[in-house]
Amino acid sequence: MKEITLGTTIKIYESVDELSPNDRKLLLEAKNAVTKSYAPYSNFKVSASVLLHNDKILSGGNQENASFPLCLCAEMVVMSTVASKYPNAKILTMAITVQSKNKDIDMPISPCGACRQTLLEYENRQGQAMRILLQGDKGPIYELESVKSLLPLSFDGSVL
Ligand code: THU
Repeated sequence: MKEITLGTTIKIYESVDELSPNDRKLLLEAKNAVTKSYAPYSNFKVSASVLLHNDKILSGGNQENASFPLCLCAEMVVMSTVASKYPNAKILTMAITVQSKNKDIDMPISPCGACRQTLLEYENRQGQAMRILLQGDKGPIYELESVKSLLPLSFDGSVL
């Protein structure tokens, strides 16, 4: 028997003051993009912003539906926006944040499994790491160096 351990390294910043100006700006864009969220059912407003290599920033929020399984996560919405507006753009960083009417979110929330898989496809496709910044409504900021680090033992197109 052999055992392997797959690890994830997370950098933790106690406040936005510790971030680089670019990261601070992107996180602020994500926070402002809460207005793009449509979440009347969960009241859990997730927003995501991406910084592209052409310096453009795009944002999106989750889009809910009365038929719950049709809800779209914020990450999916912003990725689709990138694919349609700048199909060949590389995403340097994605910032994801959340506001909830139900409770104070003082810790980062992390993308759901489906979003991780979708983000991984984009990361592999662009051939370069996409950094991820996570923050709740307040509290610490987590930085991950790539999508891959969020999805150890991942499934990807190399086996097909
Ligand atoms: N949600 C996202 O937008 N991103 C995630 O990664 C997790 C969940 C949304 C979906 C739904 O509108 C609400 O959060 C509650 O699950």
